[in-house]
Amino acid sequence: MAAQNPMQAPGLTQATYPDAFPERNPLDRLRIYIADEISRILDVEKTLVFGGLDRAASLDSGDLLLAVPRLRIQGIKPGELAVKIASQFDLRLTSGQLKKPIADGIYVRFFIETKYGFNYLVPDILHESSQYGFNTSSGLLNRDEPTTGRKRMIVEFSSPNIAKRFHAGHVRSAIIGNFLSNLYEVSGYEVIRMNYLGDWGRQYGLLACGWKRYGDEDAFVKDPIGHLLEIYVKICADFEPEDKAYAAARDRGEDTAMLESQGVLGEAKANFKGMEDGDEEALKLWRKFRALSIENFKETYARLNISFTVYSGESGVLPETMEMAESVQAKLGLTEPFDGATCIDFKKHGAPKLSEAIVRNRNGTTSYLLRDIGAAIQREKEYSMDEMLYVVMNEQDVHLNRLFKSLELMGGEYTALSKKMKHITFGRVAGMSSRKGNVKFLDELITEVAEYMHNVMRKNNDKYEQIENPEQVAEHLGISAILVQDMSGKKIHDYDFDLERMTSFEGDTGPYLQYAHARLASIFRRIDITPAEMLNADFSSLENSTHAANLLRIMMRWPDMVAQTLKTLEANTILTYLFKLAHELSASYDHLRVVNPPEGRAVSAARAALYKAAQQVLRNGMGVLGLTPVDRM
Ligand SMILES: *[C@@H]1O[C@H](CO)[C@@H](O)[C@H](O)[C@H]1NC(C)=O
Ligand SMILES: *[C@@H]1O[C@H](CO)[C@@H](O)[C@H](O)[C@H]1NC(C)=O
Ligand SMILES: *[C@@H]1O[C@H](CO)[C@@H](O)[C@H](O)[C@H]1NC(C)=O
Ligand SMILES: *[C@@H]1O[C@H](CO)[C@@H](O)[C@H](O)[C@H]1NC(C)=O
Repeated sequence: MAAQNPMQAPGLTQATYPDAFPERNPLDRLRIYIADEISRILDVEKTLVFGGLDRAASLDSGDLLLAVPRLRIQGIKPGELAVKIASQFDLRLTSGQLKKPIADGIYVRFFIETKYGFNYLVPDILHESSQYGFNTSSGLLNRDEPTTGRKRMIVEFSSPNIAKRFHAGHVRSAIIGNFLSNLYEVSGYEVIRMNYLGDWGRQYGLLACGWKRYGDEDAFVKDPIGHLLEIYVKICADFEPEDKAYAAARDRGEDTAMLESQGVLGEAKANFKGMEDGDEEALKLWRKFRALSIENFKETYARLNISFTVYSGESGVLPETMEMAESVQAKLGLTEPFDGATCIDFKKHGAPKLSEAIVRNRNGTTSYLLRDIGAAIQREKEYSMDEMLYVVMNEQDVHLNRLFKSLELMGGEYTALSKKMKHITFGRVAGMSSRKGNVKFLDELITEVAEYMHNVMRKNNDKYEQIENPEQVAEHLGISAILVQDMSGKKIHDYDFDLERMTSFEGDTGPYLQYAHARLASIFRRIDITPAEMLNADFSSLENSTHAANLLRIMMRWPDMVAQTLKTLEANTILTYLFKLAHELSASYDHLRVVNPPEGRAVSAARAALYKAAQQVLRNGMGVLGLTPVDRM
């Protein structure tokens, strides 16, 4: 195809347009033609025109739209300039890809010549298939692709505590972090997916006490996290009277050192000290908790088709890294003593909103801030990443700003490191709990939504009997329901977890999106048009169909949507687009029959090619979001 494709004609002057991606983005190809031509007509800078060519909001108003004031031409009314552009625009130079532009007030509207779109774009999409819209040479998310020349991105996300279940914040972080990792991967980055576990601290000393009293090897192997939680609850109950006595003594102003060295607390402290001192016995137990927790997490992540490149954690931050950071801070006068602890008073360093934060506690232990500083410095050393995202709930906004600011204030290489770091913040989910109880275990939640979808599927017995693996399909549908609800708004917004709404087929839900895909799959099961027939179809029969044209014009936007999403970093940008495509598909079926149409096989082939391309775009979009498309439901 490529050689005769006018959309890839040698006339493209990409060198002039550093932001253009004409090999993969059809709208960029049009932008280049238009910018060249308008620059000729008005003698304005090409990149200025290029940057001013937006996607029109609705198909009725064009494919591309130029607001003439963006050309910043003085002395002539924008409306007059719009008329001048429209009347002097030489269509011959665009290889027949565009219709005559329309001047409309201060705007000039551009519409694609759909005939060319069908002939070149549809076969192109079929040809590029799982790469369409993406900047990758070997398909969606192929992690074996060579990494040379690619930017390296660390995405830190999910990051639960070991020996505990996920809370809703870890779940949302997993969903958003996985989407962002996919997005950067398909945009040509090498992505390191990092799970930074909460795996160090005195609570693991306490847990070890619990293990000695209540640990049961069989129960642990069967349900590691469940058993550890049980133990933890018991040991906390044992500890409670002591804790009260300790607090009371402290209130009375007594020395609590004696109390602290006794009982459960004394034992817990001794255990944790053993861990910190590298005592093999203490570490052995902790390693076991950690390893089995990770195995358990992996199973849950696998249900969501999420995997991590690396499980790191607080335990991996070396004391010497943190001491080194402290000495840099001390030398620069950033830190000061505060009630026996060391702190940074950000008010004195140009960041009054960050107030002050402890670096090292009074009792000599490290703060979260210091550990995160140490972790960032070690990552830089190990990975030399170009960028690093922290996908963490908005409760931690201040903490992350302190982290970035601390490094920035440390100067030199640390300032440079701070500039690579970015917080991806998000709002709260309310009510992410199972209907059976108030537990918030992700595993149970997925199972519950999947069961709900399974019941919905059973209602249509004819269809149900044809599904090979209904449990698997129900699981994919349930997960789609959860993910699509999560991604339906901007990520900063809070939302309510709503089982009824997310599982509905009415409205823009996960099941609706899956249905759009499965319906196409069902069409392809009922025809015998070969891939070669589709690639070489005669598209003239589609020329006068508004439905076909709309589908084409939406599909043409896909690479531009991916590029835009890399700017918004909102899954919602892609989701809204996919729903638009799904709605257009559903409106088109009555008009573009594929299965045995009266017009004959050639027409069927052209329509099949169009729908195959649409299905591919749906698949590519769902893949980036982390959804697994189903063929039957
Ligand atoms: C595509 O990825 C390559 C590296 O893999 C990068 O050099 C190039 O800038 C990327 N192109 C776009 C448009 O992002
Ligand atoms: C040390 O102090 C911090 C902050 O006050 C506290 O959270 C931590 O539990 C203490 N650690 C020990 C081992 O006492
Ligand atoms: C499309 O419409 C044009 C103009 O009305 C007509 O000449 C042409 O034959 C039509 N094409 C098809 C395939 O119906
Ligand atoms: C899981 O995700 C990978 C990319 O991370 C993708 O290639 C694969 O198709 C997905 N698997 C399923 C079953 O969706």
